[in-house]
Amino acid sequence: MTELRLTAPISWLDGIDHRTGKIVQKDHPQYGESLAGKVVYVPHSIGSTVGAYTFFALRKYGMAPAKIVLEEPDSITISAELAGIPVEIKGAREVKLEIAEEVYEEFKRYLEKEASISDARGFVKVSSVHISGVSYATIGEYGKEWLANLKNKVNFRVVATTNPLGMDLVRWREMGIPDKFARGQLDIVESLLSMGALPSFTCTPYLSGNLPRYAEHISWGESSAVSYVNSAIGARTNREGGTKTIAVAAVGYTPLYGMHLDENRNPSLEVVAPEIRDTIEYYELAYLVGQEHPNSIPIYTGLKEPNLPKLKALAAAGASSGSIEMYHIPKVTPEAKTRASKSISVNKKDLAGVREELSTFDGGTDLVVLGCPHMSLQEFKELAILAKGRKALKTFWLYTSRTILSLVEGTSIWAAIRNFGAKVWADTCMVVSPLEEMGIKKVTTNSTKAAKYLRSLRGLDVELLSLREIIERYSRRE
Ligand code: F3S
Repeated sequence: MTELRLTAPISWLDGIDHRTGKIVQKDHPQYGESLAGKVVYVPHSIGSTVGAYTFFALRKYGMAPAKIVLEEPDSITISAELAGIPVEIKGAREVKLEIAEEVYEEFKRYLEKEASISDARGFVKVSSVHISGVSYATIGEYGKEWLANLKNKVNFRVVATTNPLGMDLVRWREMGIPDKFARGQLDIVESLLSMGALPSFTCTPYLSGNLPRYAEHISWGESSAVSYVNSAIGARTNREGGTKTIAVAAVGYTPLYGMHLDENRNPSLEVVAPEIRDTIEYYELAYLVGQEHPNSIPIYTGLKEPNLPKLKALAAAGASSGSIEMYHIPKVTPEAKTRASKSISVNKKDLAGVREELSTFDGGTDLVVLGCPHMSLQEFKELAILAKGRKALKTFWLYTSRTILSLVEGTSIWAAIRNFGAKVWADTCMVVSPLEEMGIKKVTTNSTKAAKYLRSLRGLDVELLSLREIIERYSRRE
């Protein structure tokens, strides 16, 4: 059988063309090669946990690899098994899940396979799951069908919150979402809720009632949330494939390997950061580290006790350009160590390079999008201060969870933002909603993660600016 050896990690969500099976990840050494029908050797994956659904798409279009051989355990790639694509790793041994509970057998077998591939030390009970791959825009018909098939067969055993949808569940018509898209999205919601998922529809579940404790074992999709809770809280989760989160929610246990074990949570790289203040510089810093050291656990030194929006930015950026599941910051990370065996220094010029790389235009946007990850109370406050006494010159769309929205609505923050002219959507985000189908071509954002995926997934032109620059460029004094 023909073999294809990938010499760099792959982003399953936006690095493969579903219809041709070809690698479309920019700058990938095997760019343009097809996976179809081949034995594909993969070092590991990077980027979104929703990439797990790509295997269903490849199968649907007849472009699936015959087999995947992994170099190191990686939950997202192992999820290919759920789409019927065999995954192997050298030296696997059988690990069984012995539980008294009656659970959905197919998922139990799948988790045993993952445990075997990952050389897991058995299984651990999880206290919560966060499900990624909930938007019709990212999982499509193939994901919708898979979830519909589980509808009357699966009952979740643990708390399971959900990632953003492709639309605001209440005001989707006002957003301009096409009817056909809304029908597909509502079917997905119905399937998930029937299994017992909770309608949080946010990538910041830790701000919406699903807040794990220090050292608690959990199983979360959504790479930004994974990195945030490992790093800022000390909870323990691997970067789980979206389909695997469904399996764990149904079974209640996850294989014990990777970030669940003490010895895998130590920093591997010291990153000496320049003096930075603005949140966008945190995005740029982690984006750069993720790109150049995708599988590392960085310890950032030189940062001045960053607040929640900055910690969120570090988490989202490093997990989107790379596969960073955890970072350390002295006095922030509960398990923070002070040293790593390797060290690099980053300067301001390096950070400016990230902005240059991700931006495709300069001025004249169609739409400003803020809230990747979903806006927190602090970010609303920060925006309200900058926007006070100003009027937007372009359309501003802000994305947050329904929980945070309910806290902000009716307050002075809300009044300032509404007077400025911004609209706030809940349940969705700029990346997982079909902006291109709504006639948008050029977007401006302050998030490197949004910038990356708005280009690769939505095919839009992107301008990356700090929040302050956005307000100065796209609003005027009253
Ligand atoms: Fe969240 Fe969407 Fe960004 S899910 S992390 S706002 S891409």
